[in-house]
Amino acid sequence: MLKLTSLQASYGPIRAIDGIDLEVNKGEIVCLIGSNGAGKTTTLMAISGILKADAGDIFFEGGRITNLPAHEIVKKGISHVPEGRRIFPKLTVRENLQMGAYTLSSGKRAGTDEEGLIAKVFDLFPILRDRRDQMGGTLSGGEQQMLAVGRALMSGPKLLLLDEPSLGLAPIMVSKIFRTIREINNEGVTILLVEQNAKASLKLSHRGYVIESGAIALQGSGEGLLHNEDIKKAYLGE
Ligand SMILES: Nc1ncnc2c1ncn2[C@@H]1O[C@H](COP(=O)(O)OP(=O)(O)OP(=O)(O)O)[C@@H](O)[C@H]1O
Ligand SMILES: [Mg+2]
Repeated sequence: MLKLTSLQASYGPIRAIDGIDLEVNKGEIVCLIGSNGAGKTTTLMAISGILKADAGDIFFEGGRITNLPAHEIVKKGISHVPEGRRIFPKLTVRENLQMGAYTLSSGKRAGTDEEGLIAKVFDLFPILRDRRDQMGGTLSGGEQQMLAVGRALMSGPKLLLLDEPSLGLAPIMVSKIFRTIREINNEGVTILLVEQNAKASLKLSHRGYVIESGAIALQGSGEGLLHNEDIKKAYLGE
């Protein structure tokens, strides 16, 4: 479904990713783990068109999407939940969700049932239904993360890119978010998950990639990587 070939991207003179090869098949949860500064966020930003690639290619459902404008990429069915949530603090929960539907550039996609999509998000995160008229900025950290995921689902994505959804959340909220990721996947959405929480994300994922200094160092099944001695030492604190 998604394929990156020798992807490179930079910030000015600094090469942040230097030849990423990665594939996500339809229906999978794939995680990308690695240390701080390894290039995880940069990889997601290049996929969603926020950052231009210097070289290499990105294919989605067989077509080349490298360096298309971000709104075109959303239209093709890729939705990105950025690191640090970035919901609209002065808009209500409902309005934040509506904004997710409007990222389909020229207004809404024909036939998009906005109310139906909002109802689905509320079924996934019942707490958001209770808080629907509350300002986004007054939600707890965990609720804001749910809202960010819900907003991304409002474009009806085929592929969801999640950047550190568990960051800064209490353990109980972390398990809630991970359970919901599985639920979203069960409903047919393919997922590329970036996480510091290597153990939980490998358990959840069908396959995983390890990124080191801007390149893929290792890949395997979630189960296989969980039991890999190098991974245990470097990322699982064992
Ligand atoms: N806006 C920026 N300008 C300059 N350099 C940047 C910028 N954003 C990231 N970098 C650099 O690019 C490299 C990759 O950063 P990236 O944010 O992709 O890492 P990451 O794997 O997501 O790390 P983390 O786990 O800390 O979120 C790092 O060396 C970082 O310092
Ligand atoms: Mg990051």
